[in-house]
Parts: sequence; C-alpha cells; structure tokens
Amino acid sequence: MSQPRMFSKRAFRALMIGIGYGICGWDASIGWAKTDLERGQAVAAQVCAACHQNDGRGASGVAPKLAAQHAQYLYKQLTDYKTKPNETAPERSSTVMAGFAAALSDQDMQNVAAYFAAQPALTAFAHHPEEVALGRKIWRRGIPERGVPACAACHGATGAGIPVQYPRLAGQWQDDTIEQLKAFQSGARHNHPAMQAIAKRLLEPEIRAVADYIAGLR
Ligand code: HEC
Ligand code: HEC
Repeated sequence: MSQPRMFSKRAFRALMIGIGYGICGWDASIGWAKTDLERGQAVAAQVCAACHQNDGRGASGVAPKLAAQHAQYLYKQLTDYKTKPNETAPERSSTVMAGFAAALSDQDMQNVAAYFAAQPALTAFAHHPEEVALGRKIWRRGIPERGVPACAACHGATGAGIPVQYPRLAGQWQDDTIEQLKAFQSGARHNHPAMQAIAKRLLEPEIRAVADYIAGLR
C-alpha cells in the first residue's frame, strides 16, 4: 500500500504506534472464548436498548449504531470510556457513556460487545447529494496535498472495517460520524493517535461530506 507516503513524519510515526497498539495492545488480553451471548443480550435489553435499540441500530442524534461492529472494537471503546489507573480523565470522554461503561464488569463489556457485534448490519442512506461527491473522493483518495490518507485504506472500500484493528463505519449516522471526527480534533477523544492526526487535517465541510458518504456505504 502506498498510503504512508501521504503522511508527514510525525503522523506516520503516530500511525505506526497506532497500528502497533491495535495489533498488540488490547486484542491479546481478551478472552473471547468465554463470552456469554445470552448474558450480553440481557444487559443490552436492560440498559443499552433505551438508546442503541435491541438490534443496535441506535438513532440519529441519540446514539450510534453498534450492530455488526467488531466485538473487539466495541469492547475497547467501553474500556476507553472508563478512567484507567494512572489517568485523570478517560481516553474517550462522554458524559452519557461514562456512567454506563463504569457500571459494567470486564466480562459484561465482552458479553454485550459480542451481542451487538452479532446483530445484522443495517443499511442507511446518504442524504445530501451535493456533499456525496466530495465525500467519495476523500473516502477513496484522501486529500494528498494535506496529508489526509484515503479512509478506505484502513476502513475498507465498503466501510466494513477490518477486524480487529479498524472499525466498521458503513451506514453510521452522519451526525455521529461528524461528532466523532470533531471529538478526535478537539482531543475529547484521544484513544487513537493516527485517527486523531487524520481528523485534525479535515475541514468542517470535508467532515460533513465524508460523514454523509459513510452513511450511504454498504
Ligand atoms: C442514554 C443513552 C445511552 C445508553 C443507555 C447507552 N448508550 Fe452507548 N452511546 C450513547 C451515545 C450518545 C454515544 C456516543 C458517545 C460519544 O460521543 O463517545 C454512545 C456510544 C457508545 C459506544 C461507542 C460506539 C462507537 O461507534 O464508537 C459503545 C460501544 C456503546 N455506546 C455501548 C453501550 C452499551 C454496551 C450500553 C449498555 C450497557 C450503552 N452504550 C448504553 C448513548 C447511550
Ligand atoms: C491509518 C488507518 C486509518 C485511516 C487512514 C483512517 N482511519 Fe478512521 N479509524 C482508525 C482506527 C484504528 C479507528 C479506531 C480508533 C479507536 O480505537 O477508537 C478509527 C476510528 C474512526 C472513527 C470512529 C468510529 C466510531 O465508531 O466511533 C471515525 C468516524 C473514523 N475513523 C473516520 C475516518 C475517516 C473519515 C477517515 C478518512 C478521512 C479515516 N477514518 C481514516 C484508523 C484509520
């Protein structure tokens, strides 16, 4: 892949750290063999469904889609909402999710992650035809002159992601994608240096456009 050439040295280093973290950091520590889908379903129904729905479809302006997302990614996000030992703030800050994540045991985070991961993918649509062309261009080619790599290089041509390292984005609500890219920009979400470096190079209209394109990916 020719992607790294589009990065500055600093962003490239962040990318390598990010990939290393993805491969060695959290995956190895998870005992997925022990996940209990029934227990995960019960937790989802009792707690999470109020916002994410039982089938993980979420709702625009309320909560992101979780259906068909990689289990390891969901688990990592739940751990990132918690303040870890030696930290003063969580790596992913959300006043809504902090409390729900804190209330879950490590085992239940795995169970509920496995449950939502097992729900069928849900499709959606791009809503702003005038934004889609720019969004598609950024998705497929990036913005080479500003060191923005193609999103497809990591998240896959159809946005299905690549388990374990790269999350699924296809069909996500546009407003959630916008919010996450802005959280990476502001540092409210600093749980992945490479993704943060990429988001910081995007301008507001580009964020809107690529988020709209992502909503229509399937
Ligand atoms: C009151 C509504 C609400 C409830 C209940 C709720 N969530 Fe969330 N969830 C949200 C919102 C809002 C976000 C986006 C927060 C952010 O910006 O990081 C979110 C984000 C997430 C994410 C990150 C998704 C991604 O694509 O990165 C995961 C994982 C998640 N929630 C899991 C859960 C689980 C598991 C439960 C139940 C134990 C739960 N949530 C309960 C509102 C809720
Ligand atoms: C170098 C690989 C890489 C590239 C290129 C990349 N991403 Fe990401 N992206 C990631 C990783 C890894 C994560 C998960 C970070 C984490 O652990 O929370 C992520 C997370 C995200 C999220 C948060 C998803 C969620 O569910 O909350 C969004 C949105 C996103 N990327 C959008 C983009 C867009 C738009 C582009 C293109 C401009 C892009 N990414 C390019 C690696 C990449």
